[in-house]
Amino acid sequence: MAVRSATINVMAATALKAARGLIRDFGEVEQLQVSLKGPLDFVSSADLKAEKLIRTELQKARPGFGFLMEEGGETVGTDGKHRWLVDPLDGTLNFLHGIPHFCISIGLEREGEIIAGVIYEPTRDEMFWAEKGVGAYLNDRRLRVSARRNLGDAVIGTGIPFRERGNHPRYLATLAAVMGQVAGVRRPGAAALDLAYVAAGRYDGYWEFGLSPWDIAAGILLVREAGGYVSDLSGGHEMLATGDVLAANDHLHLPLGALIKDALRKHGGGGG
Ligand code: IPD
Ligand code: CA
Ligand code: CA
Repeated sequence: MAVRSATINVMAATALKAARGLIRDFGEVEQLQVSLKGPLDFVSSADLKAEKLIRTELQKARPGFGFLMEEGGETVGTDGKHRWLVDPLDGTLNFLHGIPHFCISIGLEREGEIIAGVIYEPTRDEMFWAEKGVGAYLNDRRLRVSARRNLGDAVIGTGIPFRERGNHPRYLATLAAVMGQVAGVRRPGAAALDLAYVAAGRYDGYWEFGLSPWDIAAGILLVREAGGYVSDLSGGHEMLATGDVLAANDHLHLPLGALIKDALRKHGGGGG
């Protein structure tokens, strides 16, 4: 049985509390699909409500910590060392369309290093969490990345850039390279859960470009604590700064990275 620290308890309790509101609102989105105005405004208000609740709860528990939040941006804390990285609703487009695959992601940094992370998927009641040096867990079960060694057997997750974001031809070059070599590629639509799924061994690897720190902070720690590797495109650890993520078990990280880098080299041109 996993022993959760006080910090993880605070993060998990906060995610659970925010999830109650999201689930209520998710139930209403389907009704709103038929309304003339459409559900867009409703979803952004669900998102803002969740973020506000998360900020209040975390501030109550750890008053001096700073924040980097998707909606509210950066708040420097008086503590000067710790910072929460929060995505109150990851998988917004799924939520908007009534697709039950979205989550809350909360990461905690100390002096720039990610030390704790919680990713909660409310519709399946899956609480993914990790703490540096303690391991990665799904509810109370310890997680390990998959043991697959061959790309040909691998299921790889990815994120396709949205309409007005990213360099589509450049992304498609990497997709073409990966889909030609692996058992299957998945794009479920929530980056934080994509990383949690690598940690859980559901995917053997994952790549995406142009992400934000709140999408990936918690997930990076989950993959690491589950025994996997996470890097940026150059094999370094600047994922939060570059927004580029390549995660996999230790057998597949190198070949998957080589495939993607080779595709980018052949494609030429720059730009994320
Ligand atoms: C998005 C999701 C998606 C990823 C996008 C993110 P949001 O976050 O994580 O999977 O492909 O890049 O922006 O907007 O749903 O919080
Ligand atoms: Ca979001
Ligand atoms: Ca997000």
